[in-house]
Amino acid sequence: MKVEDIKQRVETCTKCDLCKTRTNAVPGKGDSNARIIFIGEAPGRKEDEKGEPFVGAAGKKLENALAKSGISRQSIYITNVVKCRPPNNRVPTESERESCRQFLFEEIDAINPDIICVLGNTASNSVLGQGEITKNRGKIIEKNGKKYFLTFHPAAVIYNQELARTFESDISTLAKIIQK
Ligand code: URA
Repeated sequence: MKVEDIKQRVETCTKCDLCKTRTNAVPGKGDSNARIIFIGEAPGRKEDEKGEPFVGAAGKKLENALAKSGISRQSIYITNVVKCRPPNNRVPTESERESCRQFLFEEIDAINPDIICVLGNTASNSVLGQGEITKNRGKIIEKNGKKYFLTFHPAAVIYNQELARTFESDISTLAKIIQK
């Protein structure tokens, strides 16, 4: 399946109740030949308004870390576990994640990246069945023939300088892995 087809199906999806409160669904965005996919949690207010992932404060943090590591935003693909904004930015429920799971698999399949960067505990729980980002961040995990790299969610580092430094160092490690 092509990324464009997945995008269209996400935009018209009514599989869960989040479709009733969304302004726009937020499909993944980026290079369909990307070597890295980034996976976040769910759209926030800005993303819901624009229909694009990571366009708010967390997106800026991610973009800055990428730029410092020499990765352009245009060269990657960014998506979320859940494609519609949960009211008040609550954590998406298990059933909402389940409704959206197929889209994420299809995106990964369509892009077939070298590595999947999992941002934060919600994404890590959904994609790898494990949380504990603090313990597992900065490492490559291999599962079912795919490579994953775990780090903090960029929203978690906005008000924490120490986490922000670790996040930037993780993104720089990821850039080195991809350059090999
Ligand atoms: N947080 C996320 O997890 N995803 C977005 O798209 C924006 C903020």
